[in-house]
Amino acid sequence: MSASPESKSATQSPENVRRFAERAVKPLVFVLACGPAGWLLYGALTNAIGPNPIEYIIRYCGDWALRFLLIALAVTPVRLLSGAAIVGRLRRMLGLFAFFYVCLHILAYVGLDQFFNWSAIFADVVKRVYITVGMAAFLTLVPMAATSTSGMMKRLGARRWRRLHRVVYFSAIAGIIHFLMMLKTGYAEPALYGVILTALLGIRALKKWP
Ligand code: HEM
Repeated sequence: MSASPESKSATQSPENVRRFAERAVKPLVFVLACGPAGWLLYGALTNAIGPNPIEYIIRYCGDWALRFLLIALAVTPVRLLSGAAIVGRLRRMLGLFAFFYVCLHILAYVGLDQFFNWSAIFADVVKRVYITVGMAAFLTLVPMAATSTSGMMKRLGARRWRRLHRVVYFSAIAGIIHFLMMLKTGYAEPALYGVILTALLGIRALKKWP
């Protein structure tokens, strides 16, 4: 039995298409954000991550942690410039993906590189300044991840919650400095991240804080 012209136009109305897009975008972004982890797992299982897999895993996860931090920070400027409210709803998930990749990055360093030798790790954090800076970036992300739920937002109050979550800019700056400091040559990638972060901060400074 075919649908009447009225019911067909009702199911395909712009409102329904918009609602469908809104419902589809979150799962789609979730799957895309799992992509780098899946790719790494595939590479590890097929021995395709080079002659130094531990260094590869640490660096790969560090790269994606920083990229997701910047992507999460781009959400508000994109929402402000485009007016697309749907973009704003992705921010928490993207921020949590940044935290997920940072945790993998640190876990790889602590477990695979240092074999959970806590005194050696502590010595590294104290002696190697780029690790100290990375640790500062990580420690500032922890309270943000812990308060990312709607319940915590209610408990803290929207203003305090927003103020706390602005610290993510510090994490991104520290993450870029951490990256720059560990390099001896080839500063193009962290420099590009620095330019992107400066642009994002500029847009937010020009537009009002939400
Ligand atoms: C927000 C926190 C952090 C971010 C965004 C971050 C990001 C990065 C990035 C982008 C790299 C360079 C990857 C490349 O070469 O392509 C890196 C390297 C590295 N990071 Fe982090 N990191 C963070 C925290 C930490 C912490 C807490 C530790 C250790 C406790 C750590 C240890 C390392 C190590 C050991 C390397 C590799 C150095 C090497 O291969 O010589 N990072 N990180």
